[in-house]
Amino acid sequence: MKNLFFTAVLLSIALTSCSEKKETESTQSESNVMMEEPKPVDSAALAASNATSSASPEDEGLKLIEGADCLSCHKVDSKLVGPAYQDVAAKYTEADIDHLSQKIIDGGKGVWGDIPMTPHAGMSKENAQKMVKYILSLKK
Ligand code: HEC
Repeated sequence: MKNLFFTAVLLSIALTSCSEKKETESTQSESNVMMEEPKPVDSAALAASNATSSASPEDEGLKLIEGADCLSCHKVDSKLVGPAYQDVAAKYTEADIDHLSQKIIDGGKGVWGDIPMTPHAGMSKENAQKMVKYILSLKK
């Protein structure tokens, strides 16, 4: 008799917790509907924070430089065919990012000497800017 009572109690607990669960589920989906407006902002912010935590523009710039031909003419701390990246960083500021990234794409000479930098016509401006950001981050 006691056992039967116990089972009944257990059953009713199980049933109520089950229906409670359903209730919270339904209220959750309701609030999801109401929350729909700010949701895209949230996920965009999340994506942005993910992007910055996994790779900053400087990190990406370094990877791009390593993947391109830059290091056959440039070294970080000494002049090779082109100027040392540290010298470039010392000469320019953030305000020059646009100009320098365009110069990487177009190539050119005359600033550091008569040896020209070869153009990198296929490179996107965005990638060139990341490379410049990396170079400027070497400023001492
Ligand atoms: C063929 C050799 C060569 C390659 C390859 C090369 N550079 Fe250069 N780079 C030069 C030379 C030479 C200069 C100096 C140009 C001048 O005096 O105006 C220069 C200058 C620069 C400058 C400074 C520009 C200025 O006006 O002060 C930056 C920034 C730069 N290079 C970045 C890069 C990056 C990034 C890459 C790879 C995508 C690259 N370079 C590939 C030879 C090269």
